[in-house]
Amino acid sequence: MDRKPVAYFAGLAQAIVGPLVVLAFLATSTLPVAADSKAWQENIAEGKQEYDENCVSCHGADGKGRGDLGQKLFKKPSDLTTISERNEGEFPFERVFRIIAGDTQVEGHETMHMPEYAARMKRDNFKPGYHQAHIRILQLTHYLESIQAK
Ligand code: HEC
Repeated sequence: MDRKPVAYFAGLAQAIVGPLVVLAFLATSTLPVAADSKAWQENIAEGKQEYDENCVSCHGADGKGRGDLGQKLFKKPSDLTTISERNEGEFPFERVFRIIAGDTQVEGHETMHMPEYAARMKRDNFKPGYHQAHIRILQLTHYLESIQAK
């Protein structure tokens, strides 16, 4: 079998990917920390907006779990500002993302108590003016990360 085309594409891929890796390294080592950037602040602000619209009723405006609806629940909402504290100081980003996305069922976390926002967000996918659900859940997770008690 003639292998030349494969070798040609492999060479081409290396020629393209190599410099990209170097560029990516340079970019991350010379740019200011992402957390200080305007784009980053916008992410957090959009996550907060998402939180204010969907989560305040149970988890409360400050995230401490004292929302009006939350008080009426048999199972009280968690204090979302102490997630890191309860996890040895590390914010479990992936776990929180999955809980909001409805992919991980927390022990004792009945769907009735924590409605499936992800399903609603997914229904908004591709509607004008909406980020895709994945991005909205990411922004929410980053917002929660930003309100952890120090
Ligand atoms: C109807 C009330 C209600 C609403 C609205 C609600 N939650 Fe919850 N949430 C709960 C309850 C109750 C728990 C406690 C878990 C359980 O059921 O055992 C919880 C737990 C969580 C947890 C796990 C926290 C931990 O300590 O590990 C996260 C993260 C969370 N909620 C995020 C959100 C986000 C983000 C929103 C908005 C999109 C939201 N919740 C909206 C009731 C609610």
